[in-house]
Amino acid sequence: MKYFIYFSETGNGDVVADYLKEKDFQIIKIEMKKRLAKSFFFKMMQGGFLASIHAKSKINDLDLNLNMDDEVVIGSPIWNARLASPINTILKKYEFVRPSFVLYSGSGTAKHALKYLDKNFHESKVIILKEPKKYEEELNKLSLLENENGQN
Ligand SMILES: Cc1cc2nc3c(=O)[nH]c(=O)nc-3n(C[C@H](O)[C@H](O)[C@H](O)COP(=O)(O)O)c2cc1C
Repeated sequence: MKYFIYFSETGNGDVVADYLKEKDFQIIKIEMKKRLAKSFFFKMMQGGFLASIHAKSKINDLDLNLNMDDEVVIGSPIWNARLASPINTILKKYEFVRPSFVLYSGSGTAKHALKYLDKNFHESKVIILKEPKKYEEELNKLSLLENENGQN
C-alpha cells in the first residue's frame, strides 16, 4: 500500500493529497488538537515559533497500521524554514522506514527542514513544491516519487 500522511494549514497540502489520491495513495490527514490562530499574522507568529523550537504539537489519533513494505510519503508545509510542528510529532511517534517527503513552501525553499532531513533521513527522497495551490505545474515534480519500474 502507498500512504500520503500529511498536514495542511492553508490548503496546499490538500492539493498534493488530491493529486496522489489519483495515483492510488491512501490519504491520511493530520489534524492539530489545538488549531493555529485564524488571523494570518498570529498564524505566522505561532507556527513559526512552534517550528523554531521543534515543537511536537498534539494531534488527533491516526488510523495507521503500516506494514514493512508499505510506501510512505510525508507531506509538510514549511514553517520558518522548518517542518511543521505536527509533522515533528509523527516523526517522533512512528518509525517510518525510509519515507519520502513532499514539502510545500511559499518560496520553494526549506533551508532548515532540508538540513534536518539530511541528518535524520538521509536516504529519503525530498521534493519541495512552491505553493501548489497557486502553481499547479509544481505537481509535476511529484513524478520523482515514482520507483525504478516507473510505477508510483
Ligand atoms: C506559520 C507559517 C510559517 C511559514 N514559514 C514559511 C517559510 O519560512 N518559508 C516559506 O517559503 N514559506 C513559509 N510559509 C508559507 C507556507 O509554507 C506555504 O504557504 C505552504 O504552501 C503552506 O502549506 P499548507 O497550505 O498546506 O498549509 C509559512 C506559512 C505559515 C502558516
